[in-house]
Amino acid sequence: MNMLKKGELYYPSSTTRKKAWVKNKNIYQEANKDPVLFWEKLARELFWFEKWNKAFEHKAPYFKWFLGGKINITSNIFEKNPQGWEKIKKKTALIWEPEPTTEKPKKITYRELFSDVCRFANALKKLGVKKGDRVGIYLPMIPEVMVAMLACARIGVVHSVVFSAFSSNSLKVRLQDTEAKVLITADGYWRRGKIVDLKQSADEGVKETKVEKVIVVKRAGNNVSLDSQKDLWFHEIVKNEKDFCEAEPMDAEDTFFILYTSGSTGKPKGVVHTCGGYAVQAYWTGKWIFDFQGGDIFWCTSDPGWVTGHTYTVYSPLLNGITTLMFEGAPDWPKPDRWAQTIEKHKVNIFYTAPTAIRMFEKYGAALLKKYKFKNLRLLGSVGEPIDESSWLWYFTEVGKKRCPIVDTWWQTETGGILITSLPGLGPFKPAFAGLAFPGVQADIKNGNLVILPPFTPGMLRGIYKNPQKYEETYWSSYGKDVYFTSDGATRDKNGLIRIVGRVDDVLKVAGHRLTTGEMEDAINLHPNITESAVIGVSDEIKGEVPVAFIVPKENSQNLAQEVLAQIKKEIGPIALPKQVFVVDDLPKTRSGKIMRRILKKIISREDLGDLSTLANPESVEKIKLVVQKNQAGFIIALLNIIFITAGIAAIIIGLLWSTGVLEQIPGIFKH
Ligand code: WTA
Repeated sequence: MNMLKKGELYYPSSTTRKKAWVKNKNIYQEANKDPVLFWEKLARELFWFEKWNKAFEHKAPYFKWFLGGKINITSNIFEKNPQGWEKIKKKTALIWEPEPTTEKPKKITYRELFSDVCRFANALKKLGVKKGDRVGIYLPMIPEVMVAMLACARIGVVHSVVFSAFSSNSLKVRLQDTEAKVLITADGYWRRGKIVDLKQSADEGVKETKVEKVIVVKRAGNNVSLDSQKDLWFHEIVKNEKDFCEAEPMDAEDTFFILYTSGSTGKPKGVVHTCGGYAVQAYWTGKWIFDFQGGDIFWCTSDPGWVTGHTYTVYSPLLNGITTLMFEGAPDWPKPDRWAQTIEKHKVNIFYTAPTAIRMFEKYGAALLKKYKFKNLRLLGSVGEPIDESSWLWYFTEVGKKRCPIVDTWWQTETGGILITSLPGLGPFKPAFAGLAFPGVQADIKNGNLVILPPFTPGMLRGIYKNPQKYEETYWSSYGKDVYFTSDGATRDKNGLIRIVGRVDDVLKVAGHRLTTGEMEDAINLHPNITESAVIGVSDEIKGEVPVAFIVPKENSQNLAQEVLAQIKKEIGPIALPKQVFVVDDLPKTRSGKIMRRILKKIISREDLGDLSTLANPESVEKIKLVVQKNQAGFIIALLNIIFITAGIAAIIIGLLWSTGVLEQIPGIFKH
């Protein structure tokens, strides 16, 4: 592949094509002829205790796949792995890179992982956890997160992974909704050289929930308080357990896991995925999109608390019998090139990350990467938000060394796996375009919005936990009950390649993380001195988008903005912190009382505000403009002050040195 220009189409090299699983573009036609038959053919490659008796059933807006089939995803990862258990059991399943560079990485084989999973599954059973029960997993990026997920899967327990950087309140809301009996957490973990006390958040999070037992992994060794009635050490409960546990045959349509994500309102939605379809889609999308081959080492940088890590750090690579890498820390810690070092050190072949990380790497400068040849890399991936052309080209040139295709993969928590991307052996690749729908996926664009048509895909969501109304309203009301509305705007070029423009609802993608303006507003409004608030997303060079908050106080107080920041951190977590908080008297509203966030956005970006006559309170706009301008001017003045003060101090120092004659001692300076 030879590329440098924007807007062009690029095709894989003959070496990439030769090695690829999919080499022939007829696959699209074959799949389109009968998508149900196509997915059935794919599903047959997995091990089923019992085959399904009906492949697809559609009672709009509900649908099912592989009805009557019995499966367990862990049988397909271990004893019945499609690559053959004998072939993979001694292979490294997981490479774990801890954050402290003084600690050694861990390599865990498939055999060892299987034993760990069985021991923990047996321990869970002993605690009385049964098929269908819900268990919360609030763990950092450590091997036990994988062990915990797989152990639940082994015995048919529904797991719900909660991102470890979420606050205790976010954890609580999720545990309350799932009515989890058990929570699996850790003492602490490393982040940017410091230990984060996770147990403390977990203790807060389980209050007012149905959690009876908290299992604690000892990771960071920080002091934690243990409640003798409730808390158990992970290492103690697995110590005497057998290293085999029978897999529970699960109905294809049994709930596999619940993963919460931000929806169009404040309350997070529990997206429900099922056992059969998710496994089929996770296996095949990984195999064809990342072209997983026997010896591959795959690094997906996402945490399993987000769907990207859930599917592509854990389930998909393991189903494909390859090695997956998990990194505990931040990619630029302790040095900006930690991520590059990690790729080299572990001979990573496929690297899958988000545009926000790519932009951060780019900002550190290409010079940093000169010493890295990335000889083992053969494929790159992008996910989570639209990637702009220049970041794409930078990624391609500086990381892929113009040798590796980039798969720009579009999907959602709801879709369970990737639905749109060009395939590595076929292409074409076009910067900023995700590409074509995966074979067997019927994607379309209606009035500029991306939709998915029947038969949908086996791995797509089956519902919102305990909230069918939300499910119907969010996904199946815009274009009818048989058209899945993605909430993403999209366009298509003359080659049929799809470009994702971005969300058309109130969802922000902050550093690739999904958050809604509604959930941030709800968090702010809990402050006793706030009447109402509005959060908008503004563009950011690295994070793509960042929140900015407008708050209307009951009474203005000096530290209100700081208190609001603390409030958001407490309610959601540090990822949701607004870049700026503006204290205003009133928010622009329609006559029916709807807050016009669009106008706030325009004020920030200094765009023309257009006709304001439809507002109930147009006078509010001028006042907000003044607050914003004052703030922006204040920022410039502060910056100028810093520059002047620094220049002043430098002049004084030089003056002093000059007067003492020190400068004349330095060769080449003031010495003639
Ligand atoms: C966005 C993440 C552009 C999109 C897997 C979607 C993307 C939302 C891409 C889902 C991409 C994901 N190009 N936008 N390649 N991939 N998105 O649920 O707006 O965290 O609706 O799942 O991310 O976010 P979620």
